[in-house]
Amino acid sequence: MHSYRTRPDVSVLNDYLEIPGLGFLAVNAFVIHATQPVVIDTGLGLPDRDFLASLAEVIDPADIRWIWLTHPDRDHTGGLFALLDAAPRARVVTTFAGVGIMSAEHPLPMNRVYLLNPGQSLDAGDRRLTGFRPPLFDNPATVGVLDTSTGACFSSDCFGAPLPTAGLVTAEDATAVTPSELRAAQLLWATVDSPWVQTVDSAKYAASFGQLRTFGPSAILSTHLPPVTSDSATLFATLLDAPHADPFIGPDQAALEAMLRAFQPA
Ligand SMILES: [Fe+2]
Ligand SMILES: [Fe+2]
Repeated sequence: MHSYRTRPDVSVLNDYLEIPGLGFLAVNAFVIHATQPVVIDTGLGLPDRDFLASLAEVIDPADIRWIWLTHPDRDHTGGLFALLDAAPRARVVTTFAGVGIMSAEHPLPMNRVYLLNPGQSLDAGDRRLTGFRPPLFDNPATVGVLDTSTGACFSSDCFGAPLPTAGLVTAEDATAVTPSELRAAQLLWATVDSPWVQTVDSAKYAASFGQLRTFGPSAILSTHLPPVTSDSATLFATLLDAPHADPFIGPDQAALEAMLRAFQPA
């Protein structure tokens, strides 16, 4: 994992996964260095990862006041319980559904939870963070973050894209990817991660971008893309085409066996 500041008050904790056939997918978590510091998502829980140690390189975990879980998928919860132990004043910002989903495996202590629905806000001391429902999401508990003082938008899985090289997913700005490559990869990710988008009413789907357009983000910080620090209009236009993109159909058993044969030594 490597970390960097994408703006004076936001650290990116950047990890990634290689997905056979799709490429490399960034797995980002963030720290908002607010008066009451906020961690957004907690990375992968793979045995060779140590989210807490990576976090400690950018902030003392004991100072963390809020752990905003954009949704409880496993690529976002890896360091959650270690962080709860290391940050005794921190509470987990999630929804009723988020608590329910977590409770099926490892219950969250209810006195450490702060329930927040899209449209509601959190006071982080020097700023107000407002929850919003990103246009694309893969989990009913998804709540992204709008930082009303800086214009930064933390979009959860939305706007993500698998990219062709590890170098691109560790880049510190999405401009490292060519516009045409980025568009194709975002549409692919939309159909992989939110396949429901191809069954929706197009007008209602287009309207779901309204809050984000009105907000006019100064940066889009997705968990699955290098930071976008300009030109969010292009990103909106790309995702508006997702209902008409080619559906994603994953490899079947025959394809898997062919793949495994290719790995065998001659
Ligand atoms: Fe997800
Ligand atoms: Fe994710």
